[in-house]
This record gives sequence, C-alpha cells and structure tokens, in this order.
Amino acid sequence: MYEQASHSLLNEILIELKPEIGNARMRHFYTRLGANFYAIHSLFHLLYGERPDFKEQMASLVETLASRYLERAPGLRKSDLAREKDYNWFLSQKWVGMALYCDRFADDLKGLRAKLPYLQDLGVNMVHVMPILDCPADNSDGGYAVRDFHQAAARFGTMRDMEDLAATLKKRDMLLVLDIVVNHTSDEHEWARCARAGERKYQDYYFVFDDRETPDIFEETMPEIFPATSPGNFTWDAEMGKWVMTVFNHYQWDLNYRNPAVLIEMIDIILFWANQGADILRLDAVAFLWKKMGGVCQNEREAHLLLQLMKDCCQVTAPGVLFIAEAIVAPGEISKYFGEDAINAKECEIAYNATFMALLWDAVATKNAKLLNQGVKSLPGKLERATWLNYVRCHDDIGLGFDDNDIRLAGFDPAQHRRFLIDYFTGRFPGSPARGLPFGENPKTGDARISGSLASLVGLESALESRDEVAIEAAIKTILLLHGMILSFGGIPLLYYGDAIGTLNSLEYLADPAKAADNRWMHRSHFDWNKAQKRHEIGSVEQRIFSALKKMIALRKEITAFADFDNRQLLAVDNLNLLLFSRTDPRNNRNRVLVMGNFSVAEQELPVGALRAQGFFQREGMKDLCSGERILVENNAIVLPPLSCNWLTD
Ligand code: GLC
Ligand code: GLC
Repeated sequence: MYEQASHSLLNEILIELKPEIGNARMRHFYTRLGANFYAIHSLFHLLYGERPDFKEQMASLVETLASRYLERAPGLRKSDLAREKDYNWFLSQKWVGMALYCDRFADDLKGLRAKLPYLQDLGVNMVHVMPILDCPADNSDGGYAVRDFHQAAARFGTMRDMEDLAATLKKRDMLLVLDIVVNHTSDEHEWARCARAGERKYQDYYFVFDDRETPDIFEETMPEIFPATSPGNFTWDAEMGKWVMTVFNHYQWDLNYRNPAVLIEMIDIILFWANQGADILRLDAVAFLWKKMGGVCQNEREAHLLLQLMKDCCQVTAPGVLFIAEAIVAPGEISKYFGEDAINAKECEIAYNATFMALLWDAVATKNAKLLNQGVKSLPGKLERATWLNYVRCHDDIGLGFDDNDIRLAGFDPAQHRRFLIDYFTGRFPGSPARGLPFGENPKTGDARISGSLASLVGLESALESRDEVAIEAAIKTILLLHGMILSFGGIPLLYYGDAIGTLNSLEYLADPAKAADNRWMHRSHFDWNKAQKRHEIGSVEQRIFSALKKMIALRKEITAFADFDNRQLLAVDNLNLLLFSRTDPRNNRNRVLVMGNFSVAEQELPVGALRAQGFFQREGMKDLCSGERILVENNAIVLPPLSCNWLTD
C-alpha cells in the first residue's frame, strides 16, 4: 500500500541524513527502506505517535538502520541478496542445529573453531552458540544478564575470535546462531549504572518506582518466573532508593519499550550482531517485551508490534538474517510470534516448538501417545515462510505447557496429570527410572517444571548404575525415538550438546555458590571429550547413540519430503501408543515418507487397512529407512518394535 504521509516523512528524513548515505553503495538500502518504510512508520506511530519528539525518534531510527548498513561487509551484503532470491532457503531439510555453551563445550571461541569437525561428523550445520557477552561473574543467569552488548566476555576470547569463528563457519557452510537478550539487561549494564546514579534519561530505560504502589498493582496479575530463587517481579535498589522491575532474576532489569530510545538501542544491537556475521538471531524471552498493569505481562499485543518493527528494520539493513522467537508460551500463543494475519512470517521466521517438546516428554512418561496425538492435532497452523525449531532438550527447564483442554481430551485430569509428570521425571513415581529435579516449584500455585539431562530423564543414569542391559537399551531407544521425531516432524531440529553421547546429569554446579540454587545447571555440564571418544568403541553406549543419530541426520538431509512446506499430515490411528504422520515432497507428491513412532515398551500391532486407503502399504511391506529393515504386512497388520521410530518408504 502506498501512503503519502509516510513517503513525505521519509523524504524529509533522508534529506537531513549524513552526506555519505547518499552514495551508490546505498542503492539496495534505499529500495528496502522504501519497501518497508510504510510498515515501519505505521508501527512506530502506533507505539510512539503521541510523543512530541516522534519525528526525531523516527529520524534516529532511520539513521541507525543506515549507519549499520554502511558498515555491513560486502560478503554479508552478497549473502543478503542471495537469500532474498532464494527466500525459502531455511525451510530445507538440510539444516540440523545444535545448541552449546562455548566454554563448556570447547573452553573458548578459538576452541570451538577447533571442535567444528566433531559437529560436522555428526552432521550438525547450524550452531547456536549460547550467550558469550560480558556478564557479571556471579550474577549472569548463564549469559542472559548482559553487561555489555558489544563485547564478548574475556574468558571466551576477543571480538576478533568471534569474527574468525563466523568466517570459519561460513567456509564450512554452517550457520551461526547468536542470542540477543532483548527483554532485560544486567543491573551492572552501563544504562543501569547511570540509572542508579540518578540519571533520569536512563531511569526511563527501565521500570523504576519510588514506592510499592505501582509494583503492588502489577504483582496482582503477574506470574512469577523464578518463584523459588527470585520471587516477585520487583527488586529494591538501595543505591537508587527505588524499586525496579525484575521479572527474571533480581539482577536482570526489564527494559521499558514504552521508551522509543530503548527500541532503537536494541535494533542497533541486533544489527551490530547481524554485521558480526550471525545468520540467525535468537531473540530471548520475547513474550515478555511489553508490560501492562492488570495483565500477565506476557504475549501482549504491543510485544508483537515491537517484534514486527525489529523484523522490518532488520529487513532493511540485513535482510538475510533470520529471527528465532524464544517464546515458551501456551500452544495457542506460540504461533503468533510468526506474525498474525499474514501469509509470510512478519515477526520471527522461526519459533521454538515448546509444545511439541513438552508433548514428547509426556509420551515418554505415559509410554503412549494419547496426549501427543491430541496436542499435535491442536497445534496451530504456521505461515508460509515460517518454521519450527524442534527440540527435545535445551539449556532450560521443561515446562508442562500443554493446553488443559487437550489433556482432558486425552482422558486425563489436568492438575493430576501434571503432578504425575513431575513425580515421574523426578523419580518419585513408583518404578520411574527418571532422575530429574523439580525446577521453579511454586507452593502458591502448585506449579513446577523439570530440570535434568535427556539421558538421565529417560532412565539411562539409573540403568547404568544398576547395570541393567534391558533398561540401558530402552533408554537408548527412547533417545533415538525422540530425535527421530524432531528430525522428521517439519522444521529445524535443534540438538543439545552432550545428548548425542548420552551425557548424564552433573552435580558439579552445587560446588559453585553462584549456581547452586539454580538446578538447570545439572544439564549444562562440561562436555566430556573422553566420553565423546568412546563413540568410536563399537557397542559402547556413546557409540550406540552417536552412530544412530549420525545416520538419521544424514538420512534426513537426503529426504526432500522432510523440508518444511506445511507438508505434514497427521494420520488418525486406533492404537494410541503410536504417533503417525506422513511427509510429502511438495515438488513430487509421490515422494512420501510415513513416520511412525511407537512410544510403548511393548511391540505394537497395527492393522493396515486405513493406511492402505491413504496409499501406504500397497505391496507386502515398506522399508524403514532408519533400521534398513522391511516392515512386512502379515494378516493385514504390521508389527512395530518397542520404542521405535520408523521412517517408511515404498
Ligand atoms: C530465557 C533463557 C533462560 C533465561 C531467561 C532470562 O528464557 O532461555 O535461560 O533464564 O530467558 O533471560
Ligand atoms: C521463562 C522463559 C522460558 C524459560 C524460563 C527459564 O519462562 O520463557 O523459556 O524456560 O523462563 O527457566
């Protein structure tokens, strides 16, 4: 849509810009600014139109976009152009990600460069390097309490090392994912220090109050994120003599996006990291961006407007860079982070599929796929240029964020079922082999989440201790089944470092007073390279997991039906131990894969009548690509092995 007012404003702003912005190197910038300006202006006006300094703020935003464009390296500009042409590039099945802590995996940035062959051996070609920015030593929240958004922490190395890592990844055709902590800063960030020293300008970057009156009103409706370690949403700062909003830990000050200066600073930071060579930026805790009295202060409409603005601005300066929304919210809310009422993603192109993750864990505990089928059925649709990040474990706790209605439809009582899951994964449920710990228990609401490493949660730790071969085998199969699901579901699979070699819980964190109270550190251990070596010893646990995963990853990359073009169909099935869906190659619909997961510890029989009607099992059997075996039809039924993931083709 062409809009005169925004065009004339754009002209005014451009005329007043620095002279170097007028030269030919800016050609693509102008085209993109022209294409996005109407949206940028409208959104900015919706949020900040009432302010007397609206026009100056708008000009400052455009200047930020232009300045960062000026410094964008030629190689990155080239890749922007290529990705604009091949705009579905990230929907390809060829991408397989892993999230890792640079220091815990490889000491530092240089070390990480040296360890890339390990990732490539497994088949990983997208690396989410967890936060590496400067943070206070003790109050860092694992890197999510940033003190300086432009500086890597010294222990990780220099910005030069970062540049080298980005360049090496590019050469190896691997993608770099970095975090931008958009919702808050450390209380030691320069802005917070200035605010504390009494500077009004910087107090306006945060939510600062003289007394408890407003905080108390907020508290009436805001949930607590870390009730056990950091209760409440406000912290008294003695030096400033004021209360400050701290939704996460007491040392993480929430940024106030009602102030346009904050948004412009953050867009500048986003573009700075885009210019360091990040292909994808993970925007942390995006659900929390807008705070409103009387609300839960999550998923507010304005948070979405802010994300649209961030996206439109990034589109102007660094259009090849994608966003991941880290919004671990209710199933109905998650897909809104792709953008509502749009065809293509207009906020974040990628979102954590927290619902699928939690549903998979439900299937592990119940050993059936009742809720999994129900939850997948209710998963909201996705936009065209949008994709999921499918994961089993990450550095955070597992939240049981299913829809209560789905739990009921699956035949359970929501409160009781959640209690069962917590009991199961913390090993309190009789016979449970899991070794997790409850995280963020809230006695007021009865809520709790779960910490623990994948291997320990599926029972590998207890099985190894009791030297129970059957239980060890079951745990390994569960690990492979879960990965088989995230590799085939549709979206980018994101593995978690350590899981490919069956890393168990680590209690090392208890010795560090800065970490002891946060049991998420039990699944953030130092990667054990001696253990990783065992992946070469035939028959070892490490080898059984690693080699099977490596094979599945290689297969995934070859299966064009696994690219994410909304080409998944959930298949109804009478046997609720199973999850069945088909994936169809959009360019050749004869090219189909039937994915079957059996979550039961017993083998399962399935009559093939319904599948035959869908065009599967036309002959005597189908081939399982994962095991290489044929699944044969006998007496009009097939039998699926226990805890198995099957990718079947004709
Ligand atoms: C995100 C991170 C989590 C962190 C929180 C606060 O949820 O994944 O680790 O504690 O944000 O920054
Ligand atoms: C918040 C985040 C979620 C994370 C948790 C940290 O709920 O949205 O991602 O798991 O904090 O524990």
